[in-house]
Amino acid sequence: MEFDLVIAGGTVVDAQQSRRADVGVREGKIACVAPELSGRRVIDASGKLVLPGGIDSHCHVEQLSSAGQMCADDFYSASVAAALGGTTTIMPFAAQHRGDSITAVVDDYFARAATKAVVDYAFHLIVSDPTPQALQTELPLMAARGISSFKVYMTYELLRLSDEQMLEVLLAADREGALLMVHAENHDIIKWITRRLLERGHTSPRFHASSHHPIAESEATHRVISLSRLLDVPALIVHVSGIEAVNTIRDAQHLGARVFAETCPQYLFLSATDADRPGLEGAKWCCSPPPRDAQSHEAVWAGLKDGTLQLFSSDHAPYRFDESGKLPRGQATTFKEMANGVPGLQVRMPLLFSEGVRKGRISVNEFVALTSTNHARMYGLAHRKGSMDVGCDADILVWDADRQVTLSASMMKDNAGYTPYEGRQISGWPERVLLRGELIVEGDRLLAQRGSGEFIACGTPAPVARPVQRAPDGPAGVFRKLIGA
Ligand code: URP
Ligand code: ZN
Ligand code: ZN
Repeated sequence: MEFDLVIAGGTVVDAQQSRRADVGVREGKIACVAPELSGRRVIDASGKLVLPGGIDSHCHVEQLSSAGQMCADDFYSASVAAALGGTTTIMPFAAQHRGDSITAVVDDYFARAATKAVVDYAFHLIVSDPTPQALQTELPLMAARGISSFKVYMTYELLRLSDEQMLEVLLAADREGALLMVHAENHDIIKWITRRLLERGHTSPRFHASSHHPIAESEATHRVISLSRLLDVPALIVHVSGIEAVNTIRDAQHLGARVFAETCPQYLFLSATDADRPGLEGAKWCCSPPPRDAQSHEAVWAGLKDGTLQLFSSDHAPYRFDESGKLPRGQATTFKEMANGVPGLQVRMPLLFSEGVRKGRISVNEFVALTSTNHARMYGLAHRKGSMDVGCDADILVWDADRQVTLSASMMKDNAGYTPYEGRQISGWPERVLLRGELIVEGDRLLAQRGSGEFIACGTPAPVARPVQRAPDGPAGVFRKLIGA
């Protein structure tokens, strides 16, 4: 039986196992994984790893910040950067700002992505204005449109929700079979430290990390977990950075809380001291939560290894080092005013492979789980993405584990204009990238056409199979009956 395409002679890796096999592709799907297949086209993968395409479930693309700054990437530049770094599905945010109609926001994101993306995409929804109309009428429409994850913020003046609002959004997520993602930092702690720092003339970028104190993160993390436990509704804490937050999440999971968590390259490979540079240069290393220190790096590695943290995403939030992003008031910009975020879509997988797999911290199967499979399961994409299973989209990487690369801004395809990893030497890079069976990257060359990426509708998030896990007669169930929730 001849296949449209065979990827021959490589080591096929998924989240469970690694095996020497060929991969047969038919009509854009994985049709067979077995030795000695024959195809009309053959890609020689001998000596290479053959992996499912990466899924980056946290990136900001064509998104307006609450301060009105447009991030530097549109769906073309972001998706090209993703493709060149081995990511074949991205999940950016359709961001509701206060007063916005959710339907109008989502329509706008669909229109922006459709003509530009070169990789496949799905959306999360940011909810910043949970009015009764939004909760009762608009959120129920989202699942029908394939959006089954909502992000809420506990900080940022114009985005943050009160605990009461978070409880309402948790209930709405539960009703709609959606997963709540939370940016967990204590707003008042950050605001109070920021005011005192600025009063003392501490305005430069390095003070951003002082203001976003790790205790602001761990307190908010504990609070989200409490809200989630109160209602027995799952929550996913995004961009976990600090040792105390990791430990808080692990403890809660041991107690049976249905809490999941994500971390990002900046919490393994960057430090608060990176922002300590002359002038405003350090703004390039500022994101929220901020990069921490060696002790937190080790805690994050341990959390990835023992399953406390299930997802490794980029939180790609690209802003240029000029008045459009990092320096809205030019040289007078204080750390409070600069846009928060670092670019990372293109380097997410190579960095984790080099520092994790090559250095023996995680197995190559754990690498696949953390960069692809777990994202598909967590957000309801596993019917098409994130594995080498027969029937899944043939989103496949031929990965050269030995290619040596020195990271530099000149090789980055995003529009940030810099990389916080400048000069870093890594081993391992995708040699070929296939999307639904089509070769979209060969070496450093993009072959995909603008707009060839497809929207993928998310189903129900899989790790939160509520009907099975919920105990209606357990303490949370009895309590919810009492309050009519
Ligand atoms: O600094 C960051 N992470 N900016 C992007 C917005 C967010 O909170 O994810
Ligand atoms: Zn966030
Ligand atoms: Zn983010």
